[in-house]
Amino acid sequence: MSNEGRLHDCLYLMQTLMQYRQQPIHGQLNTIGNKYSMLHLDVLLLIYHFAKACTGHILEIGAFLGGATMAAALGVGESGSKKAIVTIEPGGRLEHRRLGTKNILRDLERSLAKQRMSEMVTLIKGHSFDPATISAVEQTLGPDEIGLLVIDADGAVQRDINCYAERLADDCWLVIDDYAGPAENIKVTPTRRDVDALVEAGCLETLGFYGWGTWIGRWRQKSYSS
Ligand SMILES: C[S@@+](CC[C@H](N)C(=O)[O-])C[C@H]1O[C@@H](n2cnc3c(N)ncnc32)[C@H](O)[C@@H]1O
Repeated sequence: MSNEGRLHDCLYLMQTLMQYRQQPIHGQLNTIGNKYSMLHLDVLLLIYHFAKACTGHILEIGAFLGGATMAAALGVGESGSKKAIVTIEPGGRLEHRRLGTKNILRDLERSLAKQRMSEMVTLIKGHSFDPATISAVEQTLGPDEIGLLVIDADGAVQRDINCYAERLADDCWLVIDDYAGPAENIKVTPTRRDVDALVEAGCLETLGFYGWGTWIGRWRQKSYSS
């Protein structure tokens, strides 16, 4: 895509976000974000937008309590199309000032049920890179491609992309958290290294940086070689 075309898409995304800020979804996602998400509200709004607009299924790596999963589910609901939402989460406990939990999977399942979204979401319990997880994702998606990939896990972006690259549609939207952040966030250095290398190789196209350090962009399948 030409630089002019990309600039147009960057500005269009900013404008789209600005419009969502005036709509009821802003309040809905604000409530969801406060209860269930570590991501900035702007990023939740963009996940909602991509899930609504994309062609293909949605894959999320690192659900935690499901804030971003719920944003995607609301977007899919609004789209009126049949898109699978697959989310991968190994579980465990997490210390966090606002959202700490002793059992991530238990609380994730409870929160999805409370929002009446359990039926829309396929939760795969495991690590993104486990062969059993990869094959469960394959089985759930069938032959169709992924139109939105959200990565907010342990910072190993290149590893996770290698696991699922074959399934990404050309133009697939990507939301990758931890591209920027405070020094104590150990995921930032590997995330930025991997994203920058993929951008340099032409596999990822940057469309912006939102919230507290989330990278937003698109996949370019042609430039990828595993
Ligand atoms: C920062 S949280 C995700 C926050 C979530 N996106 C939200 O909206 O609040 C990171 C999550 O990734 C999970 N995780 C870590 N490594 C993973 C991996 N290899 N595969 C899948 N999930 C992973 C952790 O258990 C944790 O729940």
